[in-house]
Amino acid sequence: MADTLTIVDHPLIQHKLTILRNKETPTAHFRQVLREVAFVLGCEATKDLALGEVTIETPLEKVNAPYLEGKKLCFVSILRAGNGLIEGLLDLIPSARVGHVGLYRDHETLEAIEYYFKTPDKLNERLVIMVDPMLATGNTAIAAANKLKDAGARDIKFLCLVAAPEGVEKFSKAHPDIPIITAALDRELNEIGYILPGLGDAGDRIYGTK
Ligand code: URA
Repeated sequence: MADTLTIVDHPLIQHKLTILRNKETPTAHFRQVLREVAFVLGCEATKDLALGEVTIETPLEKVNAPYLEGKKLCFVSILRAGNGLIEGLLDLIPSARVGHVGLYRDHETLEAIEYYFKTPDKLNERLVIMVDPMLATGNTAIAAANKLKDAGARDIKFLCLVAAPEGVEKFSKAHPDIPIITAALDRELNEIGYILPGLGDAGDRIYGTK
């Protein structure tokens, strides 16, 4: 498998992922657990943020202590399911900016069609973490990354919840410079582009639609 792939197999994530996979999990619980998983995945996605040092005083003494150097961050939600991860990421880094990319999958060709694109300025100075719970065919994620690069992004990571081997291979071929962080690498795609065993349509699970 691609060497750009990181599978976060923390027991809490794996436990919560089982709740998300379970078709009996109600919408409100699904949304809450997805938020919690996003928080932990966000820790992994930001684990190489550069640290500087500041001098502070504890109640007891002066100390030079680590402090983020202040690389600007931007989370980019691939609509609509990406929104299910954004709150958890903002719990982790409240000051991050948020962009949105609207792409839908043509159900016949499975190609990604763009209908919305809005991101903060200076993307070239930011760590851009694009998020979508499902990396299935890879078409949507590839199109989103293309758009972000066209808009100036140079330092991009892709955070998802469940990935299919087909999507990982296609995405990492198209964007070998973009690390993929996921909670699981599932077995395969079915004939209509759903991940098996997967968790169903992530957008429908988040919003209670069908
Ligand atoms: N998108 C989803 O929401 N689920 C899948 O299984 C594949 C793509």
